[in-house]
Amino acid sequence: MPLLEITDMTVAYGRIEALHSVSLTVDEGELVTLIGANGAGKTTTMRAISGVHPLAGGSIVFDGRDVTKMKPHLRVHEGIIQAPEGRGVFAGMTVMENLEMGCFARTFKTKAEHDETLERVFTFFPRLAERRTQVGGTMSGGEQQMLAIGRALMARPRLLLLDEPSMGLAPMIIQQIFRIISEINKQGTTVLLVEQNAQQALSRSDRAYVLETGSVVRSGPGKELLADPAIKDAYLGVA
Ligand SMILES: Nc1ncnc2c1ncn2[C@@H]1O[C@H](COP(=O)(O)OP(=O)(O)OP(=O)(O)O)[C@@H](O)[C@H]1O
Ligand SMILES: [Mg+2]
Repeated sequence: MPLLEITDMTVAYGRIEALHSVSLTVDEGELVTLIGANGAGKTTTMRAISGVHPLAGGSIVFDGRDVTKMKPHLRVHEGIIQAPEGRGVFAGMTVMENLEMGCFARTFKTKAEHDETLERVFTFFPRLAERRTQVGGTMSGGEQQMLAIGRALMARPRLLLLDEPSMGLAPMIIQQIFRIISEINKQGTTVLLVEQNAQQALSRSDRAYVLETGSVVRSGPGKELLADPAIKDAYLGVA
């Protein structure tokens, strides 16, 4: 049984249908990527999974449970945690306060568990430990992305949703962010990643889906899609 199973999901903004009968699955422990051009519907898919946008049709099953109509905060309780497109760092709050917001809706049972999770975040992102009193809004783009992922990790995701973590970052930082995402996954967190940086994302993914104008047009192992001439042509800028 997949951890996440989306079947025939249709999502509309008013009368405009943004997703047409999208089906996808993510197994426990997998790193799955969704690639697609601007406006393909990647963010809409993420927003539907986290529950901030309703479905017009189809279903979302998480860990065997139908969550299609479940409120967003209850999905957080279930462990569906999103680091949103554009990072969504609280600009006026410090790094520590931002991280604490991550576990606000999914509180720890013991202080030891809290401290252990925080330590884990600081191990992934030593920069956040160094800057714990700095306000989020003054962090660099790369640091804010680290903070957004760190905040999501504080909620101990069972499914981590990452929407374009590489957006607007320099190549060196992109490499680093992707390495850390791989490591988070290797340590046991299931990840659904949305990316336009297809080369990096596909090479590190177990499987991937290609979204075109609201429909899934291809799926398969990341490396297989990476080697596909049509994918190369459309998403990697090489014929
Ligand atoms: N709030 C909204 N109201 C109306 N249409 C919307 C809204 N949000 C998204 N759309 C439309 O839905 C489609 C999918 O948008 P979405 O943001 O999911 O794309 P995306 O794949 O994430 O693109 P990008 O790579 O640019 O982030 C687009 O045509 C977009 O214009
Ligand atoms: Mg988007």
